[in-house]
Amino acid sequence: MATYKIGYLVGSLSSTSINRELAKALIRLAPEDLEFTEIPIGNLPLYSPDHDTNYPPEAIALKDAIHQSQAILFVTPEYNRSIPGALKNAIDWASRPWGQNAFDHIPAAVIGASIGQIGTALSQQSLRSVLSFCNARQMTAPEAYIQYTPELFPGNGEVADESTEAFLTIFMAEFRDHVVRVLTVLPRQASTVPTAAS
Ligand code: FNR
Repeated sequence: MATYKIGYLVGSLSSTSINRELAKALIRLAPEDLEFTEIPIGNLPLYSPDHDTNYPPEAIALKDAIHQSQAILFVTPEYNRSIPGALKNAIDWASRPWGQNAFDHIPAAVIGASIGQIGTALSQQSLRSVLSFCNARQMTAPEAYIQYTPELFPGNGEVADESTEAFLTIFMAEFRDHVVRVLTVLPRQASTVPTAAS
C-alpha cells in the first residue's frame, strides 16, 4: 500500500499540551495510508533575516522535515485570539530566505483545540491567512474547532464522545482525499530535499 508522509506541527510548547492530545487522536483516527511525523518547533531561535545567508541547524532541520513531507497538518492552540508566537516563528523560518519558501504548493490542513468555546476559530483564521501568503494548498472544509475537556480526551488519543470521534475521523478522511487531490496536480519531488539554507 502506498503511504503518504504527513508532517505535523503542534503550535504549543506546553509539556501538557491539549493540542498534542488532539494530534494523538487525529493520528489514531486517520486513514491507514497516512504516516505521521511530528516536526518540532520548540528549539528554534527567533527568526531574523540576519540568518538568511547562514541558517542554524535547527532551522535547516525544520525545512528538511517539511521538504520530506508530502503534506502538513497544523494542530494549534489560540493565544490571545491569534497564532502562538512559537508557531508563527517556525512558519517564518520555513518561508525564508526569499524564494525558498518550504510551504510553496504543499497540501495542508489546520485544526486546533482550546478550553474556550470558540475552539481556536480566530487562531485558525489567522493561520489560514499566513498559509495563504505562503502558497500552501489548504483544505477549506471541513473546519474543525474543538473545545477540549479532559473528559472528552481522556488520554492516549482516546475520544470519549462518539459524535466527536466520528467527526474527527471524517476530518482526517477528508484531509487524506485533499492531499491525494493536490498531489495529483502538484506532485512533490523527492529531489526537493534541500541543501543548507534552502
Ligand atoms: C490562552 N488561551 C486561550 N484560549 C482561547 O480559547 N482563546 C485565546 O485567545 C486564548 N489565549 C491564550 C493566551 C495564552 C498566552 C495562553 C497561555 C492561553 C487558553 C488556551 O486555550 C489553553 O491554555 C490551552 O490549553 C492551550 O493549548 P495547549 O498549549 O494546551 O495545546
